[in-house]
Amino acid sequence: MTITYPDSRIYKAHEKLVRREHQALAEEIDSLCRALDMTPQNISEVIVTLREILKQAKALFRHENRLMKISNSPERLNHKRDHAYLVNGLSDCIGSYVDATEPISPSIGEYLGIWLIYHDKKYDHAFFEFINPSNLCQGPSRTRH
Ligand SMILES: [Fe+2]
Repeated sequence: MTITYPDSRIYKAHEKLVRREHQALAEEIDSLCRALDMTPQNISEVIVTLREILKQAKALFRHENRLMKISNSPERLNHKRDHAYLVNGLSDCIGSYVDATEPISPSIGEYLGIWLIYHDKKYDHAFFEFINPSNLCQGPSRTRH
């Protein structure tokens, strides 16, 4: 397999941006956990925070998915599937809270935090290791075999 890197500096810059987006998402999940600790819970505030988490997660995943596509990451299908799993599950969860068909689970914040840590360790870390410029062959073609 040949992987072409048009400019390895671009990937390094994107890694920094993705790490910032990831940190912002983790902080939003922490906000959710704090809101869930309050008694009684403000349901509309929890839903607003969950929607913000979903929005940030979608932006982060779009960014990662684009990088995986242009770098031809070998794990992109499984990685993208894990992104879709969270987006679909969280969307359904928000819908059931809005419709009041399900009570807000006090553990939703903890679950999201654990999911993010697991996803980062299993998929994100491997992807950024894959595109790490220090792993590239140096030379005019900037390719790795
Ligand atoms: Fe990811």
